[in-house]
Amino acid sequence: MKPEQFDAWARTELDAVESALSAWVPADAPAGLGEAMRYGVLDGGKRLRPLLVLAAAQAVQGAREAALRAACAVELIHAYSLVHDDMPCMDNDVLRRGKPTVHVRFGEAQAMLAGDAMQALAFEVLTPAQGVEPALQARLCSLLARAAGHAGMAGGQAIDLASVGKPLAEQALRDMHHRKTGALLQCSVLMGAACGATDERAWAALAQFGDALGLAFQVVDDILDVTQASETLGKTAGKDQDANKPTYVTVLGLDAARRHAHDLRDHALAALRGSGLADTSALAILADKVVERDN
Ligand code: IPE
Ligand code: IPE
Ligand code: MG
Ligand code: MG
Ligand code: MG
Repeated sequence: MKPEQFDAWARTELDAVESALSAWVPADAPAGLGEAMRYGVLDGGKRLRPLLVLAAAQAVQGAREAALRAACAVELIHAYSLVHDDMPCMDNDVLRRGKPTVHVRFGEAQAMLAGDAMQALAFEVLTPAQGVEPALQARLCSLLARAAGHAGMAGGQAIDLASVGKPLAEQALRDMHHRKTGALLQCSVLMGAACGATDERAWAALAQFGDALGLAFQVVDDILDVTQASETLGKTAGKDQDANKPTYVTVLGLDAARRHAHDLRDHALAALRGSGLADTSALAILADKVVERDN
């Protein structure tokens, strides 16, 4: 893919993801649950994880139906993680994706249930009666479950809450960020890769790419929390400092955190170049966007 083709490719893919999500997230789930789920998932967010799935799938000529389902499934897990992350028992945030958070709009119990139902729906989306080979379904479920659970996002979130007010060493901070954010981003790349044929070298390179990019993503999230306004972010700026959370900015300082994000991007791109895959340009462009973004 040529760089000038990326925007049109991303627009087409994002339309496909939005239509599929809209078809799969039920409006008619009981007692207002469907409305809360749709509010939390549809029509918002950068959709970076789905784009990573689809860009990786493109690099390996992956099966389309499987890749689209994987793209939606990882976004469902991510959206669920945001709904719970914003609840008063966690980060207590009132603004997300430029709108009141799900618990502010629908109440805490409904927000908790909407997150629960999104998580289950992600695995339902990955296991259709037909259209995706059973062995690939199992592989995708396994990758996503591992990244979402105790070893990944949920485990990282537990460390995050346990670290409030603590001066973490860089290594402990890195471990937390790898889990809470990096795992799902790496998983996005690997789910896309699983949809096609990869040799050992390509798989290892994509795993390394996703690992570095995932960490870079959260380093940048920490930076944006202190450098951007709430209007740009679509979520409340300055929350990490207010909540006394250790971040890459508190541990390294702003300039070093910025340099670190760029180093991680370079590391990710170097891994990609070693993959032996013919066309990884969409993944490379996404890596740049992760580091250059302002929201
Ligand atoms: C925010 O993720 C939460 C983190 C993991 C840092 P995104 O910045 O990808 O949020 P959306 O999906 O664009 O809203
Ligand atoms: C959240 O990290 C990571 C998740 C697993 C949702 P943050 O708490 O920093 O995310 P934001 O800044 O609220 O989006
Ligand atoms: Mg949080
Ligand atoms: Mg938060
Ligand atoms: Mg943050």
